[in-house]
Amino acid sequence: MDERAFWLGTSWKMTKEPRSAAEFAGRLVRRWPGYTDRLRLFVLPSHTLLPEVAARLAGSPVLVGAQDVHPAEPGAHTGDVSVEMVRAAGAQLVEIGHSERRREHRETDADVRLKVGAALAGGLRPLVCVGEPRSVRESDRAVPYVTAQVLAACAGLTAGQLDRVLIAYEPVWAIGTGATPATLDQLEPVHAAVLDALRSAGASRPSVLYGGSVHQGNAAELAASPVVHGLFVGRHAWSVDGFLDLADRVHAVVRPGTGPTPPTVAARARTAGPSTPRQVSPPSWRRLLNGSGLLVGLDTDRPALASLARRTAEAVSLVVTSAGADPAELWNAPRGAGLILDVADTATDAAQTVRRAARHGADGLRLPWDHRGPDGPKAEVRALAEQCHELGMILLVELRARDTHLRALTGRVAEAAAAGADLLVLPLPARQDGDDGFVACRALDTAAGPVPWIPRQTTGAHDRGSPHDLVVACQAGASGALLDHRRVNAWPPARLDATVATLAAFARPVSPRTPVTPALA
Ligand code: PGA
Repeated sequence: MDERAFWLGTSWKMTKEPRSAAEFAGRLVRRWPGYTDRLRLFVLPSHTLLPEVAARLAGSPVLVGAQDVHPAEPGAHTGDVSVEMVRAAGAQLVEIGHSERRREHRETDADVRLKVGAALAGGLRPLVCVGEPRSVRESDRAVPYVTAQVLAACAGLTAGQLDRVLIAYEPVWAIGTGATPATLDQLEPVHAAVLDALRSAGASRPSVLYGGSVHQGNAAELAASPVVHGLFVGRHAWSVDGFLDLADRVHAVVRPGTGPTPPTVAARARTAGPSTPRQVSPPSWRRLLNGSGLLVGLDTDRPALASLARRTAEAVSLVVTSAGADPAELWNAPRGAGLILDVADTATDAAQTVRRAARHGADGLRLPWDHRGPDGPKAEVRALAEQCHELGMILLVELRARDTHLRALTGRVAEAAAAGADLLVLPLPARQDGDDGFVACRALDTAAGPVPWIPRQTTGAHDRGSPHDLVVACQAGASGALLDHRRVNAWPPARLDATVATLAAFARPVSPRTPVTPALA
């Protein structure tokens, strides 16, 4: 195999419904960073599942594709779906000419060629399936049969177009339940002939994948072949565990290549070591964390609380709001999320402030660090934290963006952590030329010690705060992010879910310490 990423993909054929598709995509998005250097992953859901799967995989390099497409422009073609439509639904590639379509829909080489042209013109990468039936294999004509299929599918394409086409060699007799996979002796001559044919037609880097009863026991051997550039898998990759198992096995044998997005320094550092969860004490943490131990908060003012309840209740796990002064406003807070209220009146004594927040149903309080001179409110943090803990709440301390010079910032982070904050919200360090923020965020992570922290998404034009910046902070050890409702409201609906899924792939989780229960006598 030459030096490039190895393709590993699955077509779900007609097997999944929305719940299992979402679960598959959700788990895959958490694992892809482990494969970016060597594998190029793709998933081909049914047309109806494309938007959901594409939204969940957005922000990751895992490609999503359709299983078929009609070659014509949008028009009177009942029951069919155009290139434009699958693209709008999130597809980046499209499978064409699978033997099941050739058999069940009588698709010919000419149909395949039309679809390849339409896909290329519409910006989709075609994945063309070819393969001989058993009778052709038994009469020893597999090489000329398959080569002819490939040349028909690619007839007249320019060299540039040829390099966008992926070929999947899938002998018909090797596909599906009860079939036996091709051996290397059987498939290598076909792959080599197809590669030659494509090179003669002008391709400079042709890619030929193998498909047909690929399973956990043969994947590594197949992937090690110098003429196999990828594996296209059906039933043994339909469960996410099966797919990830194959990815692990293939990843171990293919040589490093150039992945679709070479990992940044940050990604390499992040995937190199395990990420130990930050342990926190229950009880109120449980409501503040989502299922993967991620803290995704939304900072909002009073009028926005109502719209949050509808749009974001599922994605965010905590709402931080300045609405605490007026209990009537809190009726609109999303029910599933934890609620953190601002410490409204710093003149009131700690016990009274905390009791009032508890009456309003709060799970915690937010105190800004910098409202009391250069030393910060150390004594106040201590008193409030103690009172909060008595009533099962947490104390969130937020450092505002006034001074993001790294040395000053890390000093204040360490003080706030030592004073007893349960959770820190930190500004992202100011930009420096050529730096992606990882090293600076690492310094914040060290300064925070055992206290979980989340970066604050800021709104100024020159500030950090893009989803990428937040992901970098999570790679460096943050446990989520505090999003700004003004930004989130401007996003298309799927983007919040996609951002949360991407953060979850990188963030250092928070795990509630199991309470020690006295042994029963
Ligand atoms: P299979 O299917 O892995 O279930 O044999 C392969 C395919 O049809 O692409």
